[in-house]
Amino acid sequence: MSAFIDSLIDDMTVEEKAGQLTLYTSGWAVTGPQLRDDYLEELKAGRAGNLFNAHTVDYAIKLQKMAVEETRLGIPLLFGLDVIHGYKTTFPIPLAEASSWDMDLIQKTARLSAREATAAGVNWTFNPMVDISRDPRWGRVAEGSGEDVYLGGLIAAAKVKGYQGDDLSDPSTLLACVKHFAAYGASQAGRDYHTVDMSDRVLRETYLPPYKAALDAGATTFMTSFNELDGVPASGSKYLMTEILRDEWGFTGFVVTDYTAINEMVPHGVVENEKQAAELAFKAGVDMDMQGGLYSRYLPELIKEGKIKESMLDQCVRRILEMKYKLGLFEDPYRYLNKAREEQTLFSKELMDHSLHSAKESIVLLKNEEVKGAKLLPLSKSVKSIALIGPLADNQKDMLGTWHMSGDASKVVTLLKGIKETAPEVTVHYASGAGFGDSDMTGMDEAVRAASKADIVIMALGENYQQSGEAASRSDIGLPKSQQLLMEKVHTLGKPMVAVVMAGRPLSMTWMEENIPAIVNAWHLGTMAGKAMAEVLFGDHVPSGKLPMTFPRNVGQIPVFYNMKNTGRPFDESNKYTSKYLDIPNDPLYPFGYGLSYTSFDYSNIALSTEELARTDTLSVRVKVTNTGRYEGKEIVQLYLRDLVGSVTRPVKELKRFKKINLKPGRSETVHFKLTYEDLCFYTRDMSFKAEPGKFKVFVGPNAMEGLEADFDFN
Ligand code: GLC
Repeated sequence: MSAFIDSLIDDMTVEEKAGQLTLYTSGWAVTGPQLRDDYLEELKAGRAGNLFNAHTVDYAIKLQKMAVEETRLGIPLLFGLDVIHGYKTTFPIPLAEASSWDMDLIQKTARLSAREATAAGVNWTFNPMVDISRDPRWGRVAEGSGEDVYLGGLIAAAKVKGYQGDDLSDPSTLLACVKHFAAYGASQAGRDYHTVDMSDRVLRETYLPPYKAALDAGATTFMTSFNELDGVPASGSKYLMTEILRDEWGFTGFVVTDYTAINEMVPHGVVENEKQAAELAFKAGVDMDMQGGLYSRYLPELIKEGKIKESMLDQCVRRILEMKYKLGLFEDPYRYLNKAREEQTLFSKELMDHSLHSAKESIVLLKNEEVKGAKLLPLSKSVKSIALIGPLADNQKDMLGTWHMSGDASKVVTLLKGIKETAPEVTVHYASGAGFGDSDMTGMDEAVRAASKADIVIMALGENYQQSGEAASRSDIGLPKSQQLLMEKVHTLGKPMVAVVMAGRPLSMTWMEENIPAIVNAWHLGTMAGKAMAEVLFGDHVPSGKLPMTFPRNVGQIPVFYNMKNTGRPFDESNKYTSKYLDIPNDPLYPFGYGLSYTSFDYSNIALSTEELARTDTLSVRVKVTNTGRYEGKEIVQLYLRDLVGSVTRPVKELKRFKKINLKPGRSETVHFKLTYEDLCFYTRDMSFKAEPGKFKVFVGPNAMEGLEADFDFN
């Protein structure tokens, strides 16, 4: 490979080299602030060696032919696309699938997404997005795995393995792209693209590990983030792109910027003009310029002026040509472009079945109280009539969620259709009743009338697909006001009510928690959404999802997350001068790791293998979990650790292990966990990563706020 690439680089002009560092979008999708209509001319001139948002075999063949047959050197194109949660077959949004805590399931979603997308000519996905975030105002929490570094790291690795498989030359695998490097999820006030500023300790302890986990899983490309970090925009940060990513972590793939992120260093105010921006990004260690056209325009000049060395340019070109080589594109530029394979792969049964499975595992039951002596859920299929009320009830498009790209809404099973399929005997009175704004009350009265006819009311409420995702931050994370009003009006009828909440972020549901007996959090679940929700509502599937992100009581409580510090004045209700609000409790509405089942689980007999852990020891933790209810169900048993005293303050809890078990009614299982020295390590006062002697607590339970505890000393 290197001999082939060296000889090719020797043939290339500086313009052609800059072309390989250039990525343009086709006109097929708008995923950023501007398009350029000259991408085909640039491609033919050898000044654009990579495209994104161009897919389907028919279209990609045309473009690949242009590159291979009409350019001087015939170097094949990379075809990138945001395959975030599926290509055509759409899976639950990533934040939803994170609620499954099931790495095999998540890896399989990535594997199947890659199989479908590569059949349409895509050989590079801009995923996994691994940005930790503790702020649900930020719309892009929908694309990530929530607030926790341990869960987020495992999910990042699972997705990379799913996308890339074991052999990049296999035409069903594609390049993964770890984004957005780094710490984009910490943007101030949850406002997208906003400033990020944090200590190196918080950066390394909480935000960097998932990127590193993705790299350790073999990720071949990284994407820079829009935000500045410590005053330097990521695309110009040598600290991130070279010192950490390459020198410390040994990354050998290539770094692409996010959409025109190099150009944006001018408004950031770290350079005066776009030529300086190109130079700053290049020297920081960025290999490829997405959509900005600045590398293509200025690198040849900067080399002539001696500001950058051609040998550095060759190094970037080599990284990109190596990826094309590993994908097998030099051997056969059309290996991803097989029409017959495309037709038989899209929407295949295996994909649709897995989409349904993933959707069911992603649903989180938040509340299920008794009504007339029995738990309201699951609903009986012999109930006479149900009113299904809300703008998300008979809605295909919004089930796809944000970043559904080429998803096909016409294939989506709505909640209304899912209920009719799952409980065909039930009479369903449907009415939308409200919209997604604050004032669209059309149909409110009709909806209330529909509700008055039924025995039970199911509300289908939440966000549309454009109210989360990129450039979709919200200053208030409640239901749209028209829906809140609708729910309160229907509530006055006094019927048993179930709320099914579909959104791309945690919503504040305090009124709902106080007034509605059953609440199901169903995110945006993709193509099979309605079938999955209906199977849960009628008990064909027992929910087991757990929240990957804390649900605040209201937006004023943000940031609120489970692994906070204790402070010097932890809340004490008997003492005014302790850390609290005057108007709400400190605890969130629903904590990280929380989720109910139709059955119940009891935790008992926690036991540690030792109370004195030495450095070379392994600590084994055992706990007995019993299904004390009437349904077979799954429980995600979680193990948290607390380091009581450190040379710096330590979080009150940190997730270190979890295990998803399945138990029949009445059955028990003793769950085993093993902890080692590495699990106790952290960035100490002098930033060395190690464990310090002292007292530790182990917590094992159903979520971050409940469970059994035991103590041990590390020395
Ligand atoms: C967008 C997003 C990024 C995406 C890229 C290409 O602006 O920030 O996540 O991969 O542009 O669409």
